[in-house]
Formats: sequence, C-alpha cells, structure tokens
Amino acid sequence: MKMTGNTILITGGATGLGLAMAEYFLNAGNEVIICGRREARLLEAQKMFPKVHIKVCDVALDKDRKELVEWTNAKFGKVNILINNAGIQRDIDFKKGIDNYNAGSSEIAINLEAPIILSGLFIPYLTGKPEAAIINVSSGLGFVPAAKMPVYSATKAGLHAFSMALRHQIKSIGIKVFEVIPPAVDTELNQEGRAQRGGFKVDLKPKEFNEAVMKGLAEDIFEIGYGMTEHSIKASREELNKSFEQMNSRW
Ligand SMILES: NC(=O)c1ccc[n+]([C@@H]2O[C@H](COP(=O)([O-])OP(=O)(O)OC[C@H]3O[C@@H](n4cnc5c(N)ncnc54)[C@H](OP(=O)(O)O)[C@@H]3O)[C@@H](O)[C@H]2O)c1
Repeated sequence: MKMTGNTILITGGATGLGLAMAEYFLNAGNEVIICGRREARLLEAQKMFPKVHIKVCDVALDKDRKELVEWTNAKFGKVNILINNAGIQRDIDFKKGIDNYNAGSSEIAINLEAPIILSGLFIPYLTGKPEAAIINVSSGLGFVPAAKMPVYSATKAGLHAFSMALRHQIKSIGIKVFEVIPPAVDTELNQEGRAQRGGFKVDLKPKEFNEAVMKGLAEDIFEIGYGMTEHSIKASREELNKSFEQMNSRW
C-alpha cells in the first residue's frame, strides 16, 4: 500500500493504537480524520497533532455511522482508506447468566457490526479511488479466545472471517482489505479487567507495535501480526488449542 498522499479515516483514533497510526500517517504526509465518542479525547489528540481532523461519533449507533460516512465524504471527498480500529473489551461471566452481558456496551455492535456496516457504507465511495483500502483491527484473541472475554474473542474471530471474505470479494473492484492482529499492547483497553487480573502488565507500547503494522502495510502483507500473533496466524489447530489451554489456565 502507498503510505503517503492518502486521506484516511481512523475510527477510535484518539487513543492507543489508533492514535499511533494517526501520528504516523500525519507525519508521512497523509490527511487524517479520527473519530470517537469522547470529544475531550479527540480535542486532546488535536492539541498534540493540530493537523488531524476530528469527529464525535459512536460507531455502535446506526445514525452516527450514516452521518459519519456522509460528513466524511462531503468534507473529505478524497477519502480512500477506512481503518476500522474502534473497539472495546469486557470481561463477561456467563456463570451469572445474561446479567453480566447486559450490564455494559455491546462489543458485538462496536467491534463487529460497526466494521461490517461502515465497510458497506464506504465501499461505494472507495470504489475507483487510487490505493483504496479497508484496514480492520482484530486481535490475537480472535485466534486463541480468552475465556474471561468470550464475546470480545468472538467478535474478533468474526472480524477475521469477515476480513478474509471481504478481501476476496472486493479485490476485483480494486479495494485492498488488510487485517491488523495485535497481541497485548499497553493501551486503555479494558483497564478494569486488566486491573482485576492483578494489574496485568503489558510491555509492548503502541508506537513499537505500530512500526510493524506500517511495515506490513507498505509491503502489502494482508494479515499483519506481531510477536505471539505472528505465530497464531500460521499455527496449526493443535498449536492453537495448546495456546488456549496455557493462556486460560493462568486466568
Ligand atoms: N491493546 C491491546 O492489547 C489490543 C490487543 C488486540 C486488539 N486490540 C484492538 O485494537 C483496537 C484499538 O484499541 P486500543 O488498544 O488502542 O484501546 P483504546 O486506547 O481503548 O482505544 C479504543 C478506541 O476506540 C474508541 N471507541 C470505543 N468505542 C467506540 C464507539 N462506540 N464509537 C467510536 N469509538 C469508539 C475509544 O474512544 P471513545 O471511548 O472516546 O469512543 C478509543 O479511542 C481495538 O479494536 C482493540 O480491540 C487491542
């Protein structure tokens, strides 16, 4: 993928991995738009990177999704790359029946439905644009599910399947589909759950992970892993089962 001269929309771009991508793409000479639910965090990001464009949007809401697409295309007609990065992660205990699941935001709406619907809404605008691409941020937990985060893991496995199928389907209209598969990275994701696991500490910083992501995109690697997830992408079913047992016996 060409790494400069693009117009890029990054959902959830005000923090963590999205912000690291935004910083890189801005410095590399791209127009960058980021969106998220919290205006304060978007303004903070804009203070750090004055060239970034911001939009308050909840990708779980159908009306916000449609408005985002219309606003982006009216203001930035050249948008040629959509990065589906926004995500949440929740520990959900089904031993408590459905109550725990119902007590928080929907990972299905944010992590899976939003990338699917936004892809569908953006594809007509991406078609015919030079270097058009959709980049979906999934997770290593889509390959090796975490028992404490069953719905999150399912949404990321779903996003992996969707990315594979979509890549094949829209290749013929000139749109590339990438999947970025992060391992655990030190961000604000699921801080509550991480704290409950005894302050689960992660050394990998967003900028370091992002270097691998940008290298992969530049080389047209369509499934980009790093560290443990680089292994998971290529692992046998037996190896994945072993990783599942190891990870879930610790938690
Ligand atoms: N960090 C990791 O260990 C890790 C590992 C594997 C995969 N990932 C994936 O990487 C992506 C980025 O996460 P991160 O680690 O960078 O965590 P993060 O810092 O918490 O970033 C997530 C971003 O998504 C935004 N967001 C959440 N719900 C949204 C909604 N309904 N509408 C619009 N924006 C929304 C958040 O902003 P608002 O709250 O303001 O909306 C936030 O800026 C996620 O898809 C995550 O699943 C992360």
